[in-house]
Amino acid sequence: MSTPLKNDRLLRALRREPVDCTPVWLMRQAGRYLPEYRATRKAAGSFLAMAKTPELACEVTLQPLRRFPLDAAILFSDILTVPDAMGLGLYFAEGEGPKFERPLRSAADIAALAVPDMETELRYVMDAVRLIRRELDGAVPLIGFSGSPWTLACYMVEGGGSKEWGKVKALALNEPAAMHRLLDTVTDAVIAYLGAQRAAGAQALQVFDTWGGTLSPAMYREFSLPYLIRIARELKSAEVPVILFGKGNALHLDALFASGADAIGVDWTVTLEDAARRNGGRVALQGNLDPAMLYGSPDAVRAQVRAVLDSYRDGNGGSREGHVFNLGHGLSPDMNPDHVAALVDEVHAYSAR
Ligand code: CP3
Repeated sequence: MSTPLKNDRLLRALRREPVDCTPVWLMRQAGRYLPEYRATRKAAGSFLAMAKTPELACEVTLQPLRRFPLDAAILFSDILTVPDAMGLGLYFAEGEGPKFERPLRSAADIAALAVPDMETELRYVMDAVRLIRRELDGAVPLIGFSGSPWTLACYMVEGGGSKEWGKVKALALNEPAAMHRLLDTVTDAVIAYLGAQRAAGAQALQVFDTWGGTLSPAMYREFSLPYLIRIARELKSAEVPVILFGKGNALHLDALFASGADAIGVDWTVTLEDAARRNGGRVALQGNLDPAMLYGSPDAVRAQVRAVLDSYRDGNGGSREGHVFNLGHGLSPDMNPDHVAALVDEVHAYSAR
């Protein structure tokens, strides 16, 4: 288990230690923009078949690393594995994204939820983590992940994606006690899930609060933030850093910097200069190139990468330490892998100390 890492830039940056250049990984670095991913998915028959077969999950996790000198692997899985294991019945309707057969419809549904057993119901995830660690053989660290309680609750109550998230927000407004009970149970499940990934070999953990930014500030402080804080505090460890990523979290950075997490991931609606200034060196920062910049030419991508790197340095007292380069959200299927190559190359070349 303890093969020393050949490339530990990510873990050093997350601890705000000096590195030879800024580490980079990309949200959804394994995915449909890669032809080799599309081939594996076609052979597997479906996304879920791929995610639930450790050998295939391992294969697609490693695909982007064969193409680009990325500084981390991210487990190939999905945030909705947890509600699936809680009995909601995850499926993907062609072209419609994720859906649940049995969404939560009442306080009684919520009261009946239980934390799944990680080494039985979610064993396929832990087996994938163990297999990927073995195959990586210490090349780069492996990041495990989970959805945030609020983001998971969004899908569990709506039964799928939504523009307005009207059902879950109505539940929060009309039955706050049931909503908090749901968030509490999901938080217990998230902590057990991330703890099990860590025990299986994950070397950093990221929580995706994808939909926290859809909440008003007061609702965010009641229904998302306290659960993120509980996760950060209960998973605190010297060895395995915790990253809290939130889309649209700029308004709440001061609270997040004090959450107990080792790093905060931000989207592109805030400059890293502003975020780093407000942070004052308390935690590491991850982000935050607008993924749409990848539609520009490779030269334009490189210029945008330099601007993000400089923005962080300018807000961090002239130092590049404590920054993990990433996008502000995930890669899209129609992005060009050659532009991703330019991005990764420019991060390393321009930030070399
Ligand atoms: O490389 C990686 O980043 C690791 C893999 C990963 C996936 N999903 C694979 C995936 C990760 C980290 C996730 C997290 C996830 N899943 C989130 C949070 C991250 C975010 O984007 O904010 C959310 C909200 C989900 C739920 C989910 N899963 C949606 C909305 C979809 C449909 C997306 C789409 O564009 O169709 C999925 C399916 C999914 N998860 C895909 C991938 C690569 C596409 C599946 C396919 O091949 O069709």
